[in-house]
Amino acid sequence: MKIKKAVFPVAGLGTRFIPATKAMAKEMLPVVDKPIIQYAVEEAFAAGIEQIIFVTGRGKKALEDHFDRCFEIELSLKNKGKQDLLKQIQELVPKTGTIVYTRQNEPLGLGHAIWCARDIVGDEPFAVLLADDLIQTDKPVLAEMVKKFDRLRASMAAVMEVEKDQTDKYGILEATQVEDNIFRIDDMVEKPLPEEAPSNLAIIGRYILTPRIFELLGKGKMGAGGEIQLTDAMKSLLKEQPIFGYKFEGKRFDCGDKVGFQMANLAFALERPDMRERLIRFVNEIQKSF
Ligand code: UTP
Repeated sequence: MKIKKAVFPVAGLGTRFIPATKAMAKEMLPVVDKPIIQYAVEEAFAAGIEQIIFVTGRGKKALEDHFDRCFEIELSLKNKGKQDLLKQIQELVPKTGTIVYTRQNEPLGLGHAIWCARDIVGDEPFAVLLADDLIQTDKPVLAEMVKKFDRLRASMAAVMEVEKDQTDKYGILEATQVEDNIFRIDDMVEKPLPEEAPSNLAIIGRYILTPRIFELLGKGKMGAGGEIQLTDAMKSLLKEQPIFGYKFEGKRFDCGDKVGFQMANLAFALERPDMRERLIRFVNEIQKSF
């Protein structure tokens, strides 16, 4: 069965970015000149996804408008002969009906946000993308995962190696390598202390999940932080079905974190020929005063 639907949980409060996120979704913060969410949506379409499901909450109007047409701007760009920009903003609007919105009316956690999409996804495997996890790579991660899914026919999470002293920030795997870059997950531990971590393989925000996860999430079991955690439901799923970890190629930035967000901006800007030289000069200059 083909992976056609992708769920984007975007209902978090984004408290680490207050005041920027007081009236606007964290996912609308720009990395260089594109909102974080747009990178993830482009990754999903590049992987063959046909339907985008946003699980939104309060203050998500800007996000909805971003993926809709804006006749005022289009007309103004047209009148000024700015064809390139016009094309750009027209192209970022997906075909009518491709995007579906549902609402998580209480931020009860990532697991709960995904569960809110259950009726739209229905009885088929689907993808989940956390836009906060921005990945700079030549091999877009979700497309690679979809290819692996075609063969393995099982749930999957993207994983990466983290520094041993950073394990308490991630869901960490106990896993057995079965192929190049593929691990069969035996267990997972949420945010273990370095001395208790079973490995340094951490789950990051790209998943392919079988629909059974909805029933497990639907049990409404409260986990860490009083939230319904995806990790808990995946642990239950492991008792019934295999789950694989795909170790992706590329560099991941945590855009939900202020330092990670700044790093992403610098790394993506340095890829742009129109910005690169000036930025390098600036970084070299300020470095002298550290
Ligand atoms: P985070 O753990 O980064 O939480 O969520 P957050 O609320 O967005 O940000 P902080 O920690 O307060 O700064 C990870 C992903 O899960 C979504 C978020 O939108 C983000 O994409 N999420 C989280 C929900 O959709 N609903 C929730 O209840 C919690």
